[in-house]
Amino acid sequence: MLRYASFIAAALAGALLTRCLSPSSPAPPEFASEPLARVSSRLRALAQHASSHRRRVVLVTGAAGFVGFHTALQLHAEGDAVVGLDNFNSYYDVRLKRLRAALLHRAGMRTLVEGDVCDAELLRTILREGRVSHVIHLAAQAGVRYSLKKPLAYVEANVRCFVTLLEAVHAVNNSVPIAYASSSSVYGLNTLVPFSETHRVDQQASLYGATKKSNENIAHVYHHLHKLKLTGLRFFTVYGPIGRPDMAYFGFTQERTLHAPRSPPPFALHAPHLRLMPSQAILAGRRITEFRKDNGDELQRDFTYISDIVDGVIAASRLAAPLEIFNLGNTRPEKVSTLVKCIEAGLGRKANSTRAPITAGDVPLTFADVSHARKLLRYEPKVTLEAGIRRFLLWYSDYYQVDLARDFMPSRKEAHELKVKYNINVNRRRRGRQLEYA
Ligand SMILES: *[C@@H]1O[C@H](CO)[C@@H](O)[C@H](O)[C@H]1NC(C)=O
Ligand SMILES: *[C@@H]1O[C@H](CO)[C@@H](O)[C@H](O)[C@H]1NC(C)=O
Repeated sequence: MLRYASFIAAALAGALLTRCLSPSSPAPPEFASEPLARVSSRLRALAQHASSHRRRVVLVTGAAGFVGFHTALQLHAEGDAVVGLDNFNSYYDVRLKRLRAALLHRAGMRTLVEGDVCDAELLRTILREGRVSHVIHLAAQAGVRYSLKKPLAYVEANVRCFVTLLEAVHAVNNSVPIAYASSSSVYGLNTLVPFSETHRVDQQASLYGATKKSNENIAHVYHHLHKLKLTGLRFFTVYGPIGRPDMAYFGFTQERTLHAPRSPPPFALHAPHLRLMPSQAILAGRRITEFRKDNGDELQRDFTYISDIVDGVIAASRLAAPLEIFNLGNTRPEKVSTLVKCIEAGLGRKANSTRAPITAGDVPLTFADVSHARKLLRYEPKVTLEAGIRRFLLWYSDYYQVDLARDFMPSRKEAHELKVKYNINVNRRRRGRQLEYA
């Protein structure tokens, strides 16, 4: 458990906010990604090296995205040859994607292609030249609320590009297994809890959910017709360091503070039921909106820490089942107020919250039954919400130069992870009562 720091119930002034929230991480480095022409020779070299060392060659789409980055980093650490593909689109602040690309490069991954999954020729070239043995497809148009505003972006990215990928794999090598991202959103209006893969799911509440369900249907078709190996992974509310800003981002960008030139993207916890991203709103002393059910009950989410998701994704890729679907959740739904409390404790500030009824597209509760993944993938979620929010805040405080609560001291393990994954040096010695960030 986090120690609850003294709450400083003070709203920060606007000027202070701008200063505090300026990204401290350096501008995108020389390397981020390259056009295919320049990486193709390295792709061939990678394929050569992988084959002489009997390594897998894994194509990770959306490698500069949140789940894609963490998956690619872990695969690389485990010795697989990783080819990344990402279009670096501007759905949210591209600086975060460039930072992820830079961190992959720092880790030694030299094959991140800037391109689109809807580009069939590009895909076939990568699959052939890189002699890709496994595909992990994580590129997608994410976000529940945005699908109300930009429906066709979802059809394009989540349906057309998905079919393009399957066609490319079919054209090059039918035996290459594909693990792809689905979502807890496929459960939609389902009221049976916990959510099980055996439940019939045909009542999605958002177009986002419907496109993800259609991926599962399309997967069935390609398996049936061409024997492609396809595993769908239903992610439950993934959060963690260098995460992605969710839908609330768009509501927030319209607000004055985000028009400031150096102001940051909103914080990256995927919390569609909060209109403002909680830690920023809390920092700014702004009001956060907690959505409630009609009877006043709180919404609950099965928040799942990124490393648990990555373990599940990699296990599914290695299993290479003929046709499967797995829930990847934490199996511990938490109230939104619990999340807010964890953030308040870390920041040492109290949230200013207000309530509003649940909005269209959102659902009151998500709760994963992960027994199927436990059995076949040995999946076991390990990170509690408290521990995961700690790790998120440690990254966040460095990136935006935000002070954490005075007694918020990273453990040796946390400090090590910050260094290895995110190139953040934390001096664990106390200087006065403040942490020193080198
Ligand atoms: C096709 O993919 C499978 C699975 O990765 C691999 O074992 C096989 O060698 C590939 N075949 C060719 C011709 O590359
Ligand atoms: C909470 O937010 C509202 C709206 O922004 C503001 O008027 C009010 O003063 C805030 N209260 C505190 C205690 O910061």
